[in-house]
Amino acid sequence: MSDTFDGIKEGHSRIPKGVMVLFIGLAAWAVWYVFSFTPTFSGWSQGKIYEERLASSRAAVKEIPYENPYEKDPKAIAEGKGIYEANCASCHGANLKGGVGNDLTAHFKYGETDKDKYLSIFSGRGGGMPGFGDQLGRDRTWKVLAYMDSVREYGMKP
Ligand code: HEC
Repeated sequence: MSDTFDGIKEGHSRIPKGVMVLFIGLAAWAVWYVFSFTPTFSGWSQGKIYEERLASSRAAVKEIPYENPYEKDPKAIAEGKGIYEANCASCHGANLKGGVGNDLTAHFKYGETDKDKYLSIFSGRGGGMPGFGDQLGRDRTWKVLAYMDSVREYGMKP
């Protein structure tokens, strides 16, 4: 048997640079990935991320301002008066002095901060005060409160 040259040569061309870079890049990424997302190495955990997000959204909720943006705003108070007459006067009286509902110019048992008063109107109170949140929404709840306070706190005519 004699060696006959079959015409097929082994390729000696070098691996293209781009392929090499890509390969090394992927290998490095794989190491980084495994390292970063394996809890024993990096302390990464789904639970921790969840806790962090929860904490930051709790902080955001606390920051919701419970301060009436319409306090002493004449235009909002005028609108609030209309809302009051349509929704509240039947129980609390046209002059706010009470009826079925309590006197809105006297001491409040559920608290007298903006937040307390807002929640009384928005969510209602046990002893027969319906919640108006669904009907009025946030904005109009503040407006009717601005009207109530214009009489209650600032002595304006009802
Ligand atoms: C169906 C009758 C009724 C209507 C309508 C009504 N209220 Fe009341 N409201 C009551 C009663 C009754 C209470 C007392 C609840 C209690 O003592 O638990 C009350 C309580 C309140 C309180 C809390 C008072 C306190 O002592 O802390 C506020 C503020 C208030 N109402 C505002 C309003 C406003 C503003 C509206 C209109 C958007 C309105 N209410 C509509 C019956 C009504």
